[in-house]
Amino acid sequence: MSRTLRTQVGIVGAGPAGLLLAHLLRQRGIDSVILETRSRERVEARVRAGQLDSTTVQILTAAGVGSRMQAEGVPNSGVNFYFRGNTHRIDLRAVSGRTLMMYGQREIVRDMVAGLLAVDGKILFEVTDVELHGIDGRTPSITFHSAGQDMALECEFIVGCDGYHGICRPAIAPALSTFDVAHGFSWVAVLAQTKPVAEEVVYACHDRGLALFSLRSRAVARFYLQCPQEEQLDAWPVDRIWDEARLRLEGGAFVLEPGPILESSMVRMRSFVAEPMQHGRLFLAGDAAHIVPPSAAKGLNLAVADVYQLAQALQERYRSGDASLLRDYSRIALERVWEGQRFSDWMTRLLHTNINGSAMDRRIQLAELDHLMATQAALGNFVESYVGPKMSC
Ligand code: APR
Repeated sequence: MSRTLRTQVGIVGAGPAGLLLAHLLRQRGIDSVILETRSRERVEARVRAGQLDSTTVQILTAAGVGSRMQAEGVPNSGVNFYFRGNTHRIDLRAVSGRTLMMYGQREIVRDMVAGLLAVDGKILFEVTDVELHGIDGRTPSITFHSAGQDMALECEFIVGCDGYHGICRPAIAPALSTFDVAHGFSWVAVLAQTKPVAEEVVYACHDRGLALFSLRSRAVARFYLQCPQEEQLDAWPVDRIWDEARLRLEGGAFVLEPGPILESSMVRMRSFVAEPMQHGRLFLAGDAAHIVPPSAAKGLNLAVADVYQLAQALQERYRSGDASLLRDYSRIALERVWEGQRFSDWMTRLLHTNINGSAMDRRIQLAELDHLMATQAALGNFVESYVGPKMSC
């Protein structure tokens, strides 16, 4: 026999987008239920992003899930570019008045899961066979299996926060246009128990390829090494990782201290957008609708902006019956998404070495980096895009 649950907003996926949306809705007096295919342990174990722009920090804080981030996160007021043996520091705070925060997505997810469960928020982990129904009508629903039981979740709206491989976007595929590009590079992503090479991000643009040094705390380094697109992780034993990282920093003042590797994985550089981000009573947010190459660290920040916008629109709809913000969700979100795509694409080209490219290509790339460091207007434009949009929240 099947069991039926009811809520106002059914959320598919307990990644950063789904979890934050549930918090923002709860604050606005709107009931939601999250359905997640993985276990709580799996959801809380994923490493992924960790560079938060100032609007994301503001939104997480306003959502009531920012206290550990404020205490343990590492603020970054600058960013470093290292190329041809010279370090160029860009002072983000001086140019824009804004800073970034380094705090791992895994910690954000843990904070948000704990926060929701502490207030009786509804997250059903380890559900299977999730299917959407009635998206075009007024009473959509989601069917699924949970703990061996057939279940139905009746709701008024559904939000697909189920990432790139989820089921929500495919459910409306005929209504969508999609844009997809692979950039021809991958990253070996490494999390290591060691002092980071710097407290601020370092982009080392070496002839051998990009090395991006970041951090998750003052004792945990996160770094990425450019490699060919199809390379497999087993081609990167521990010694090769440290040797390559050292080579790409050679000649500079940064000190790399090898330590135990806690996690390594492959990240494929790709760009993807599905539009529109809504159809009937289904809205898409985060990776379900768009993927950016991580060169400019925009993925998590774009997802946060999506669900913040959606929470405001749903609040207005429930408060006054006015659905105009909901109707405009996709149009406004896509402006932000395409700007994020533009900038991420530009940074991807700026930073990665085309190993098979000509010497001319490489010299032009270095000239572009020189131009960025030496030209006030170029630097100002870069910083505005890099620190992210100002948002009133
Ligand atoms: N039913 C329920 N849950 C599902 C389903 C499904 N059919 N398919 C996938 N999921 C879950 C996944 O297990 C995952 O927990 O949806 C969640 C999607 O989470 P993410 O992939 O992290 O997507 P999102 O929340 O949009 O991520 C936001 O953070 O690090 C970044 O790359 C990430 O840029 C993205 C941002």
